Amino acid sequence: MQVFNRITDLRKYIDNERKAGHTIGLVPTMGALHEGHLSLIGKAVNDNDVVVASVFVNPIQFNNPSDLEKYPRTPEKDASLLEKNGCSAVFMPSVEEMYPEKVNDHYDFGQIEHVMEGACRPGHFNGVAIVVRKLFDIVRPDKAYFGEKDFQQLAIIKKMVRDYNIPLEIVPCPIVRDSDGLAKSSRNMRLNTAERAIAPKIFAVLNDSVKHYKTMTPTEMHDYAIRKYGEIKDFDVEYVEIADETTLCHLDSWEKCEHARIFVALQLGPVRLIDNLRIF
Ligand code: PAF
Repeated sequence: MQVFNRITDLRKYIDNERKAGHTIGLVPTMGALHEGHLSLIGKAVNDNDVVVASVFVNPIQFNNPSDLEKYPRTPEKDASLLEKNGCSAVFMPSVEEMYPEKVNDHYDFGQIEHVMEGACRPGHFNGVAIVVRKLFDIVRPDKAYFGEKDFQQLAIIKKMVRDYNIPLEIVPCPIVRDSDGLAKSSRNMRLNTAERAIAPKIFAVLNDSVKHYKTMTPTEMHDYAIRKYGEIKDFDVEYVEIADETTLCHLDSWEKCEHARIFVALQLGPVRLIDNLRIF
């Protein structure tokens, strides 16, 4: 596996692969890789001749400086996992390489950007859009892979690709969970033993709530989930939202909705965790 820190070197490599007629898959990450990321790599390896992963903790998508500072960084381990899992190249740029000057782009993706994570983390999705667009410009992949744990991020990236006619396919990949249901996340490694023991209840409450969809309105399901989370004193819930999967619009009724999803964000000890589950 080749390791690139410079955009020009990565571009040369990509140009050669393209000339050889190879298809290219891109898996953007912020490192601290876990089985969730490796499932994206596995799918990309299966679909493409060449797979490029990026490992870059993107400072402009963090609205909380302490979250950025504490974000886990394990570059050597990441490189070795990527190699073992069949990745062809990894791009690990410095902040200066990605942002020699401040990028002032200001995206507004409308409704899907202003709810949930967008409402709680001002500027977050603008930072994600800037870095993902840059990565798309640098690598010009045929396909790019994103996990459904960050479901709203996935929706925003799909919209960016449509809005700007970016010629690639976005491949959504299902959430990977530990055997106790906890969604894999780089942030899980910051949980202490007691917090880790409680964390599976995040998914357990989602799972329990969606079972009631035939007898509850969306508002009743929301209130039910809030009540259940409220019973776990270590959880500090930021939001529970029940939304249409395509528009991410809040639902007051199940009618006219093809697919609905329940979303949660909460603080557990020092860590902010998110999860989501399809209702139908
Ligand atoms: O999902 C992530 O890890 C990041 O938001 C992404 C897409 C790599 C952009 O920095």
